[in-house]
Amino acid sequence: MKWAVLVGGTGSNLEAILSSGLDVRLVISHRAQVRALGVAAQHGVPTRVIVGRDYPDRADYDASLRGQLEEFDIERVAMAGFLRWLQPETIRVYQGQILNLHPSLLPAYPGLHAIEQAFEARVWWTGVTVHFVDEGHDTGPIVAQAPVPRMADDTLETLSDRIHRTEHALYPKVLHAVDRGAVWLQDHVVTYAKEDDAWIHGHF
Ligand code: GAR
Repeated sequence: MKWAVLVGGTGSNLEAILSSGLDVRLVISHRAQVRALGVAAQHGVPTRVIVGRDYPDRADYDASLRGQLEEFDIERVAMAGFLRWLQPETIRVYQGQILNLHPSLLPAYPGLHAIEQAFEARVWWTGVTVHFVDEGHDTGPIVAQAPVPRMADDTLETLSDRIHRTEHALYPKVLHAVDRGAVWLQDHVVTYAKEDDAWIHGHF
């Protein structure tokens, strides 16, 4: 399967995905001059930058994005730090083929600054979620989650590091499972080839 990764920042998850050997054919960033673009270039993956201010109409932005995905024959999309909501037409065209990574245990702390929100709330546990993307905001069907403890002496930086390390371990595993058809979306429900809690929890 040919994948695109949508980015917008540091690209540490892109790095983990590329190192895992997933067949990534294209990286699209919504911001110019971000580290993620350098990571893609180091791995020899073509990059495109599509900046929001060039497209006042969100539908036009997404049409341009889909144009790039089509040009590279992309079948599946992994969002990794791409901080824009995809429009309904994009989600319709790539129904069940777009995944997103979020740095909290959804439905807790959707949207921006999820790690900061959990830190400020002094939760004992937060974590990482991978979900299929639907029309809502961080609401799509959940594929996998991993809990991360908030330690008494954590700073925002130490908690963020722990969350990012967990993301780097979880996201490539999930993407490979989707890639080989072990997990898919059917009628808005995440379906696993082995309907077995031990497998699902053990695997992810
Ligand atoms: C990751 O922590 C990811 O979970 C988050 O952006 C970061 C990107 O880091 N995504 C969201 O908050 C989506 N709502 P990276 O550029 O180093 O991979």
